[in-house]
Amino acid sequence: MKIAVLPGDGIGTEIVAEAVKVLKVLELPLEMENALVGGAAYEAHGHPLPETTLKLAKESDAILFGAVGDWKYDKLDRPLRPEQAILGLRKNLGLFANFRPAICYEQLVGASSLKPELIAGLDILIIRELTGDIYFGQPRGRRTAVDGHFPGAEEAFDTMRYSKPEIERIAHVAFQAARKRNKKVTSVDKANVLETFQFWKDVVTEVHAQYPDVELQHMYVDNAAMQLVKAPKAFDVVVTGNMFGDILSDEASMLTGSIGMLPSASLNSSNQGLYEPSHGSAPDIAGKGIANPLATILSAAMMLRFSLNQEAAALRIETAVQKVLQQGLRTADIFSEGTTKVSTVQMGDAVVKALG
Ligand code: IPM
Ligand code: MG
Repeated sequence: MKIAVLPGDGIGTEIVAEAVKVLKVLELPLEMENALVGGAAYEAHGHPLPETTLKLAKESDAILFGAVGDWKYDKLDRPLRPEQAILGLRKNLGLFANFRPAICYEQLVGASSLKPELIAGLDILIIRELTGDIYFGQPRGRRTAVDGHFPGAEEAFDTMRYSKPEIERIAHVAFQAARKRNKKVTSVDKANVLETFQFWKDVVTEVHAQYPDVELQHMYVDNAAMQLVKAPKAFDVVVTGNMFGDILSDEASMLTGSIGMLPSASLNSSNQGLYEPSHGSAPDIAGKGIANPLATILSAAMMLRFSLNQEAAALRIETAVQKVLQQGLRTADIFSEGTTKVSTVQMGDAVVKALG
């Protein structure tokens, strides 16, 4: 089983090191190879996603990814910015199905900004389409406006688009995931305004006919953003496009109060996957040894489950994470009175120990 390890920028290197440490003690036949990505790759090779990194990713069964980005690259031309690395990996490997669970850990109920009763026991799954929508729409660019409010003015544009097969395949992923959970899918759109999302709604409804055992609800994105803070537990699986999914998954993750705890998986049709924490590169705390490695460690567990078919090992990691939380160990982001503050490395060591 070959794993491409791409730590990236900021806290990426620190948190990925802890996940690798955990993977190494599992005694599985894992071959891990590191490569540069994002700003780190730009510094070394002049490109955020060098050919060698892309090749390694393509050849691997799974990719363990840290995070990319730093404000210092904001001035670079768009194709050279660190974020292009993750977008390039998604596109080149066809990683269209993004799983972003938002789970509230019992021990961390107090970390949420919402009332405990609203989020205790929260377990929702956002499924975000990841290779289409306005993120990859063509045409895009800048030009002189020929119409609109200011003809003759300079303008910029990106196009939102989805093809039927793209919507169909993510809808299938969502209905199948719901079957293994509480059998409810909320499809989020903006069909009241956008043609792309009327089409989305129509196609999801059509696919739903094959899943009569799963309940389907449609919701406008603005309402979904509101319902997520009003009654998050009313959701089970949420399926939506790339842009809305980006926004709603950040919102959902923070409901749990601890974005540092949430893993994610991005899969293609042959179950090859990229696994990364839901949070970003956090350049403000990079190098301080205080980042929470648990989201990345839990991403490694997802990797074992989804791409490497190692359910037992995945469960072992997840149980160990529960254990360290029960022991009261907390990195700074989830620390509260009465718990023990630990560093990134100490947290990784504790998980290794808790593996038994
Ligand atoms: C995410 C991130 C990325 C996205 C950025 C870094 C390109 O925000 O994975 O949610 O917008 O998809
Ligand atoms: Mg995002």
